[in-house]
Amino acid sequence: MTPADDTRGPAPRLTVIGTGYLGATHAICMAVLGFDVLGVDVDPDKIERLGSGEVPFFEPGLPELLAKALDTGRLRFTTSFEDAGEFGDIHFVCVGTPQQQGSYAADLTYVDGAVTELARHLRRRALVVGKSTVPVGTAARLTELVQRTAPAGTDVELAWNPEFLREGYAVDDTLRPDRLVFGTQSPWAEEQLRAAFAPVIEQGTPVVVTDLPTAELVKVAANSFLATKISYINAMAEVCEATGADVTGLAQALSYDDRIGGRFLRPGLGFGGGCLPKDIRAFSHRAEELGVGQAVSFLREVDAINQRRRARTVDLVRELAGGDLAGVRVTALGAAFKPNSDDIRDAPALDVARTLHRAGAVVTVVDPAATGNARRAYPELTYGTDVLGAAAGADVVVLLTEWTEFREIDPQAMGAVVAGRRIVDGRHALDPVRWRAAGWEYRALGRP
Ligand SMILES: NC(=O)c1ccc[n+]([C@@H]2O[C@H](COP(=O)([O-])OP(=O)(O)OC[C@H]3O[C@@H](n4cnc5c(N)ncnc54)[C@H](O)[C@@H]3O)[C@@H](O)[C@H]2O)c1
Repeated sequence: MTPADDTRGPAPRLTVIGTGYLGATHAICMAVLGFDVLGVDVDPDKIERLGSGEVPFFEPGLPELLAKALDTGRLRFTTSFEDAGEFGDIHFVCVGTPQQQGSYAADLTYVDGAVTELARHLRRRALVVGKSTVPVGTAARLTELVQRTAPAGTDVELAWNPEFLREGYAVDDTLRPDRLVFGTQSPWAEEQLRAAFAPVIEQGTPVVVTDLPTAELVKVAANSFLATKISYINAMAEVCEATGADVTGLAQALSYDDRIGGRFLRPGLGFGGGCLPKDIRAFSHRAEELGVGQAVSFLREVDAINQRRRARTVDLVRELAGGDLAGVRVTALGAAFKPNSDDIRDAPALDVARTLHRAGAVVTVVDPAATGNARRAYPELTYGTDVLGAAAGADVVVLLTEWTEFREIDPQAMGAVVAGRRIVDGRHALDPVRWRAAGWEYRALGRP
């Protein structure tokens, strides 16, 4: 059923403020689901590209959906908050909440800026819905800000609808989420959200309706849990390294236990990206402000374990290079923080590549999607365009992002172009038996 077929009356008109990884995906998918959507961003270049059918980042399936949505005429983009205020019944706020410079706290400048600018143009009843990941208590503060700033005053309500999409699977996660969380302050706000997500709810998606602080906390609690699970198995990898045990066998054996499960229990270089690291840091910072820092003090250790995996990966490359990295030619397979994304925010791969570079290695980075972003951010590194070209003459190869095309590398073909058959598998993505059989010295974190 599309929103227009709905018996509940006219479908709400939606705006999406902030059209980055989250907002562009949300805007496009909502238009595909049948809503009239206006995407708003302060970046005119982004708005221009989206309006002309170009998704400004790598996300499988999204360019096709953007074309489809633009064709229907239901999706438009603008930099005008005035248009947004006039157009929308429901306004989704999807701007960034990065880590503050010099602090663990979240930087809320973009959220505050977007909400203030939008509120100035809200002249009738409307619902502002936060989707960005924010410290608990932000929604209560923004409610006051919105109602004080909007010409429509308390006719404008605020709700929170945390987003759980994963880059690389963003389309599917948006069209078929495993749950929806609505933090609301009135039955009207819940009704509005139910109308905005009607096509998704009709598929049987569970909806959790709750208050604002719970909705805000769900997101950081989920990310903390996932980060903890990753760091847990990586802590076991550290123990394995000291004992000669094999963390991949350990993880496999644990994964058969239904109570534990195998997902997010993959040892390796650890997590990065624009969410997990900054979210757990902002959560511990906020918990300390609230006087409950001790309750989540383990997150500091989760973060520290994660950072140590990056250092240990550099150590493995150094060991394979014979103890000194100066002048050693290293091919780094991967730049994105994970496969199927071009996102390099806090990417473990680039952290490792840059540390190797600073230690004197001559590093060539290759990545199927993220070299453009990486080159802009770190011009000091060298970038290759294809795997075998990048590996030519390498003394050590290090796999840092587990793209399928790296998993499928033929060890014989790569062996023919490198200077030395030495590989560090930072993601446990390769078959050590196959690589060793092809004459490679193979090393991986947490394995003998
Ligand atoms: N990327 C993900 O996978 C993901 C998943 C779940 C939640 N989140 C959360 O969603 C939020 C956005 O993340 P993202 O990855 O999309 O970030 P992003 O940096 O890709 O996008 C943010 C966008 O907001 C725009 N913007 C900044 N200030 C603005 C303003 N005042 N008005 C309008 N637009 C403005 C920027 O130009 C940019 O296009 C963050 O809080 C993040 O934690 C992200």
